[in-house]
Amino acid sequence: SPFKNAAVLSDSYSSEASELADIEWGNLGFGLLPTDYMYMMKCSQGGNFSKGELQRFGNIELNPSAGVLNYGQGLFEGLKAYRKEDGNILLFRPEENALRMRQGAERMCMPAPTVDQFVEAVKETVLANKRWVPPPGKGSLYIRPLLMGSGAVLGLAPAPEYTFLIYVSPVGNYFKEGVAPINLIVEHELHRATPGGTGGVKTIGNYAAVLKAQSAAKAKGYSDVLYLDCVHKKYLEEVSSCNIFVVKGNVISTPAIKGTILPGITRKSIIDVARSQGFQVEERFVPVDELLDADEVFCTGTAVVVSPVGSITYKGKRVSYGVDGFGAVAQQLYSVLTRLQMGLIDDKMNWTVE
Ligand code: COI
Repeated sequence: SPFKNAAVLSDSYSSEASELADIEWGNLGFGLLPTDYMYMMKCSQGGNFSKGELQRFGNIELNPSAGVLNYGQGLFEGLKAYRKEDGNILLFRPEENALRMRQGAERMCMPAPTVDQFVEAVKETVLANKRWVPPPGKGSLYIRPLLMGSGAVLGLAPAPEYTFLIYVSPVGNYFKEGVAPINLIVEHELHRATPGGTGGVKTIGNYAAVLKAQSAAKAKGYSDVLYLDCVHKKYLEEVSSCNIFVVKGNVISTPAIKGTILPGITRKSIIDVARSQGFQVEERFVPVDELLDADEVFCTGTAVVVSPVGSITYKGKRVSYGVDGFGAVAQQLYSVLTRLQMGLIDDKMNWTVE
C-alpha cells in the first residue's frame, strides 16, 4: 500500500491537518485509497435531484431490493483532477461526463443530474478532498460519479428512487505495465455489446460482462482483451476499459461510434489533438486485419490516458509494434494531451476547468 500511515483522515473539511495527504506519491497504481468525503444526492422517479451534500466517505445503505442490485439499473462516470505547479486544481471537460451520464440515464430509464448539478458536485467533492490530489507529475485524483436505482423494486420496473454519488481516489498508472506497452488478445467468442444493446452507454453491466474474457486473458499473461463486433466478428470495437486507435503512416483510424462502443471523452479529445497536430483521423469500421500491417496501436481512456500497445494476438498469431516504449505517435499525442490536462500548455479549446 502506498499509505505511510493508514489513519490520516482529517476531522473536518474546513480544518485540514495538512495540505497533502500522508502518501508515498511515487507508488500510486490504480486502486482505491479511501479519501475524506463523498457526495450524495437523491431523487424520486419522475422528480428532480434536489441539493446534495458531502458526507464522510464510507459504506452506504441499500435496500436488498434496490433496482441497482437486482436489475443492474446503474451508470458510472470517470474523470480526473490534476494539481498544477501553482497548487490550483484542474478538471478536464467535466461537462462532457455530465452529458454522457444524461444520455446513459435516458437509455437506462433513470433521472439524471443536470450538467450544472453534476459539475458543481464534482467541484465540491474535489475541493473537500483536495489534499488527496497528488502533487504535479505524481498522478491525479480519479473522480467516480455513480448513478443508481436505489429504491426498492421486486417486479421488473424502473426503481422508485435514485442516488447520485461521487467518490474519489488518488491514482497513478492504470495498467501494471506502468507506461510500458500493453499486450492485448483479440476475443472472438465472447462479446461486449450488441447492436441495440447498451454498449454505447456507461452502464455498470457492460463492465461485469467483460470480466470473464479479461480474467482468462490475464491468466495467459495478456494485459487485456480487444473486442470485435458481434455481427461480422470482423471489425474492431474496444478494449474492456478503453478505446482503440490504429496508426498507418499519417492516418489514425478508430472504430466509429455506432451504439456498441463507449464514446470516450479521451477518445474524442485525442481525435481533435491528432487533427491539430496534422494527422488525418478516420472514424469508421476498422477490420481486424488492419492490425497486421499497422505501424502503431494505442488505447485511450480516462483511466488509461494514452497507452501504447506492444502486441496483439489474434487466432494464435502475435503481431508486435514499436521497439520498446511508446510508439512515436502515441508519445506525441500523450504528451500534448497530458500537458493540456496539467495546465502546462495553452488551453485554446477551453477544455480545463480550474
Ligand atoms: C475510465 O477510464 O474512467 C473508465 O471508466 C474505465 C474503468 C473500467 C476504469
